[in-house]
This record gives sequence, structure tokens and C-alpha cells, in this order.
Amino acid sequence: MIPTLTWTEKGVEFLDQTRLPLEETYVLATTYQEVADVITTMVVRGAPAIGVSAAMGVALGVKQSPATTVADLTPEFEQICRVLAATRPTAVNLFWAIARMREVYQKLSAKPGISIPEIREILIAEANKMYEEDIASCREMGKNGAELLPRSGGVLTHCNAGALATCGYGTALGVIRAAVEAGAEIQVYADETRPFLQGARLTAWELLHDNIPTTVICDNMAASMMRRGKIQAVVVGADRIAANGDVANKIGTYGVAVLAKEHGIPFYVAAPWSTIDMETPTGDTIPIEERPAVEVTHHGGKQLTPEGAGIENPAFDVTTAQYVTAIITERGVLRAPYPESLAELAATPAGA
Ligand code: MRU
Repeated sequence: MIPTLTWTEKGVEFLDQTRLPLEETYVLATTYQEVADVITTMVVRGAPAIGVSAAMGVALGVKQSPATTVADLTPEFEQICRVLAATRPTAVNLFWAIARMREVYQKLSAKPGISIPEIREILIAEANKMYEEDIASCREMGKNGAELLPRSGGVLTHCNAGALATCGYGTALGVIRAAVEAGAEIQVYADETRPFLQGARLTAWELLHDNIPTTVICDNMAASMMRRGKIQAVVVGADRIAANGDVANKIGTYGVAVLAKEHGIPFYVAAPWSTIDMETPTGDTIPIEERPAVEVTHHGGKQLTPEGAGIENPAFDVTTAQYVTAIITERGVLRAPYPESLAELAATPAGA
């Protein structure tokens, strides 16, 4: 399995995604501040992977804290959470993971006589449990979504919603993997995904690693590929899904969804339940991260645009629910009307 991130005795080890596919190198974050840095600089990226990284960052911060009493540890715990929460604003998994660690911490710190080593051990175990749960939920999503894909044909994906964006197996790419494992003959088309090139660099790398036929196309080729009948389905991941089914995902996803509808091609979103944000009513209020202009103006250290050109670099866009054929989660496949189907699943206890 691709080792996206790993808890070790020395810290959290990350496969450096800024260097793929040409170099397979690892970065060891030895403090929670370094974990935050690794998230901000996109050494690790992808909503579920960011969430579990932040949980491990919290565990690492507490492990290294010099505090000897709960009274001293609590403000430090909050500071660790603040630093990790300030890394990337769009993927709700980040905030979900921090909230889950905080809930565990608050319960532990309220227990009379609990020791700091006990708190440390339980928080480390919780972060590692989230890691295992993430892989399991990707596999469930795969099972739930595999039969939606064609038995034979082209499937377009945007960005990287694979093993590299999760703790393993992937969300959108997990659905593709599961379909292939079930015997489907799928040709994946990976949008290159300007400006960070997650599709060209990461999706192509990880699918070829698993011998899944993959063709990289420039983002502006998708319309023509659809018109020429090469694409039978689209499957993407998500960074946050609002209560009405609007989906925030990598910039460019919205365009792909509109094109899919125009060509009568199903557009699927695969995401774990931790990506669904029932507190956010519609996509209009999802915070969209603006990344540094240099990601657009330069590539490989080389300047592409003239000095003085205005630059915008929103990292995500919102695909309104009307374009989404189905949302594939580990808890089942949801269809429109999403306000109802999401609310119903939210009210159902997990595992029921
Ligand atoms: O900026 P990134 O690379 O973190 O963006 C990633 C995406 O947009 C993914 O599609 C999304 O996080 C889903 S990952 C399973």
C-alpha cells in the first residue's frame, strides 16, 4: 500500500507529494508545528489525509508537551488545535478531526486522577484509530460505488482523490479500484488539474502503480473527450459537502460537472461521512482557500506569465447539487433530493 502518512516513534512520516512522481521521498515531521507546515505546503494533501494528519499532529503536540498537570496541558492543547486548524480552510475533515480529538481530550481531562501519560497514550491511539477507520471507509465506499461505473469504458477524474489523498485506497480512486477488482475494464482519464497538477503527477502515478490504465489529459480537453464518446462516467472526491448537497472540490470540478450534464454522463462524488458538513447549509458559505499566486505564475521554478499580470488562484470551486448524480459514502449511496437524503442519513446512527 502507498504510505501516504505514518505515525512513528519519532514523529509523523509523510510521502512528499510535492516531489512526486519524479522522486519518492519522505518528510519526518517531529513537532506539531512541522505537521502544520507539511499540511500548508501540501507535502500531504487531500481532505481525509489532511484530517488524519491533523489528528496525528494533535497527538504529537500532546506527546511532546512538558506539561505535568491537566491545568497546564489544556491551554497548550488548545494552542496545538489552533495552529493545526489554521492550515487549510476548505476541507472540513481537518476541523472534524480536530473536534474529535478535542472531544476525547475533554472527556479524559474531566476524569479525576487521570495522568498525563495516560492522556498521551489515548490520544495517540485515537489518531491511529482514525487512520485505520479512514482506510476502512474508503474500502466501503469502493464497494458501494463500484457498480455505478461502467463494466467497460472511460472514467474521468479530476485532481487526486486516491490513496495519496487518504490513508489508503482512496475515495474516487477507491471506487475505480473496486470496480477494476470486480472485473470492470476501465480506462481512466485523469485531468492534469492546473495549477498544482495533482491529476498529472499524483493520480497517474498511483493508478499506474496499481496497473490501472490511465491517460492524462489537459483540463481543457475534457469537453472534447466527452463529445467523442470516450467518457462514460465521472467520479471525483470532495473537500466539503454542504447540507443541500453542494460539493466543494478542487478548482475545475464545477466545469467538469456542467460538461457531464450537458453530455448526459453521470457525475459521481465519493466522500467519507467526515466530509459532509451538515452545519453549512449551502455551498455559498463554504470557505474557499486562495493559494499563493506563484503556483499559477511559475512552474518548476520557471516563470510562465508576464510581470504585472493579475492572478487569481482559488484552490476549490463549488459544484451545485443539481449536477451531482449521486454521492457515494461508506454509509451508502445518496441521491437527490440531497437535503432530504443527507438529513435522513445524518439522523441514522452510524452502523445502523
Ligand atoms: O488541494 P488538494 O490537493 O488538497 O485538493 C484535493 C482535492 O480537491 C480532492 O479532490 C479532495 O480533497 C478529495 S480527496 C479524497
